[in-house]
Amino acid sequence: MSIFAEDFKIQILLIPLIMKGKSPKESLTIQTQVVLPNDTNTLGNLFGGQLLQWMDIVASISAHRHCRRVVVTASVNNVSFNMPINHASLVTLEAKVSRAFSTSMEVFIDVWVEDPVSGEKIKANEAIYSFVAVDQNGSPLPVPPLIPETEEEKIRYEGALRRKQLSLILAGKMKPSEATELKALFMEA
Ligand SMILES: CC(C)(COP(=O)(O)OP(=O)(O)OC[C@H]1O[C@@H](n2cnc3c(N)ncnc32)[C@H](O)[C@@H]1OP(=O)(O)O)[C@@H](O)C(=O)NCCC(=O)NCCS
Repeated sequence: MSIFAEDFKIQILLIPLIMKGKSPKESLTIQTQVVLPNDTNTLGNLFGGQLLQWMDIVASISAHRHCRRVVVTASVNNVSFNMPINHASLVTLEAKVSRAFSTSMEVFIDVWVEDPVSGEKIKANEAIYSFVAVDQNGSPLPVPPLIPETEEEKIRYEGALRRKQLSLILAGKMKPSEATELKALFMEA
């Protein structure tokens, strides 16, 4: 690595420290969709891939609102489809940044399904996406830190480093022996 590349890495690590922190509510993004016939599988329920796309869009807007940069999806973690979502349901997706690192951000997406007749809202699932802020050449850029406020935001913030380390291990970008936060979790157990 050249001395310039090394300098750039140091700048990326330092800039978030001098950027003003932002609250999760500044990145809150809410979208409501209706499940149309084109969005369904052969059983007439919402197609999983369609929900993943809606989640990617709402989460990327949330990450963009946090850093005001172009963002790319780095990883999709923790998605489970807990219940079928029927045709004509109203699906509301709520996304908020749960933690910002140097150039990456973790975003939580909560998905609610509203019965079109009764109006009852049920939490259908939850997903966690990671985004990286990039310049016009696709190189990572620093992002502002996140300052959690509510109890739930603090819990999500606390767990984010563990999830990032797991995601990096699964992507082959980190050795398990370097995952200090994950190791600490197993030592506690
Ligand atoms: C995401 C991307 C910009 C990362 O680039 P990179 O060369 O790996 O850059 P770095 O190693 O410096 O990583 C940048 C940040 O991304 C994080 N990151 C990279 N891969 C990650 C993963 N799988 N999960 C979580 N975070 C990840 C790194 O930890 C780092 O975070 P930090 O700076 O906040 O500590 C690059 O891999 C990319 O452009 N991927 C394609 C993105 C895309 O096209 N998405 C659409 C899907 S089709």
